[in-house]
Amino acid sequence: MKEIDWSNLTFGYTKTDYNVRCCYRDGKWGELEVSSSEYVDIHMAATCLHYGQEAFEGMKAFRGKDGKIRIFRMRDNALRLQSSCRGIMMAELPVEKFEEAMIKVIKLNEKFVPPYESGASLYLRPLLFGTSAQVGVKPAAEYMFIVFATPVGPYFKAGFKPTPYCIMRQYDRVAPLGTGKIKVGGNYAASLVAGTKAHDMGYSAVLYLDSKEKKYLDECGPANFFAIKGNTYVTPKSDSILPSITNKSLMTIAEDLGMTVERRHITVDELATFDEAGACGTAAVISPVSRIDDIDENKSYVFSKDGEAGPVCLKLYNTLRAIQYGDMPDTHAWVTVLD
Ligand code: PLP
Ligand code: COI
Repeated sequence: MKEIDWSNLTFGYTKTDYNVRCCYRDGKWGELEVSSSEYVDIHMAATCLHYGQEAFEGMKAFRGKDGKIRIFRMRDNALRLQSSCRGIMMAELPVEKFEEAMIKVIKLNEKFVPPYESGASLYLRPLLFGTSAQVGVKPAAEYMFIVFATPVGPYFKAGFKPTPYCIMRQYDRVAPLGTGKIKVGGNYAASLVAGTKAHDMGYSAVLYLDSKEKKYLDECGPANFFAIKGNTYVTPKSDSILPSITNKSLMTIAEDLGMTVERRHITVDELATFDEAGACGTAAVISPVSRIDDIDENKSYVFSKDGEAGPVCLKLYNTLRAIQYGDMPDTHAWVTVLD
């Protein structure tokens, strides 16, 4: 194995030894199969290629100080994948099979789980897609599930340093009654133009507004948005954002820390009243927001003047990481410890 510089990993693809696969044929899921190929051989008329019948998940496994590997909230990801499958009419993978595949892929690639000290983790990317041929717009009869693992560092280059985000009203990520609350590939294709434009302008991501009225905050590209106002954790309530497992965890941690949690509509103007803001997700963990530029309105909302994250974001980040790495008790049963 090529030497990996664990502490300087970015959020990129590094080849590991094995992936785990499972096929759905004749109305049922088969046995898990182990593959060392990075490629899949599928029919050119497969529905995933034409009609976007594809959904994915993102999870992480962490190596603790005790050397043990911990997986964070695996069941929640299994359930969300099922919800994505229902949303685009794919065969749902049973939770037990999902969990068995995650544990298998981690164990097979154990040497790629970064050491505790590096602060990196093993990213797990489960994906499920329609494989059988179809020319009419109809769901496939056959599906493939794959999970691969790859060691990663921070998603946003700055790691835990605050970075700027922007509001651009000419782009929507999803439609109001569309696929925003499920994790399907098409949502990400639809976000590429706006996301690339934002990156080119020096922003980490776009903070999308609701696509109907352009009045309320939705989410931050590939992460949910939250803000801190005094002792309150505020996060948008919207039917078109992905229900982030990280955000759900932070809401619980905030409550544990004695904070009030509000999940509600947040208007753009309200940004002026917040003390701190952050983007959160499996890949992003917490990415503190330094500033939000509302490009169309020519307004800026500043959350960090000194280049450092605020104290509440820091506390939430440290607590979440401590639970994930096993440095704090897992009082909510979020963590699966591998033997
Ligand atoms: N929102 C979007 C659009 C995402 O892609 C993700 C990443 O999965 C999130 C939010 C964060 O969700 P989670 O915390 O479950 O990773
Ligand atoms: C994640 O946070 O796991 C994601 O899936 C976000 C992104 C990399 C698409």
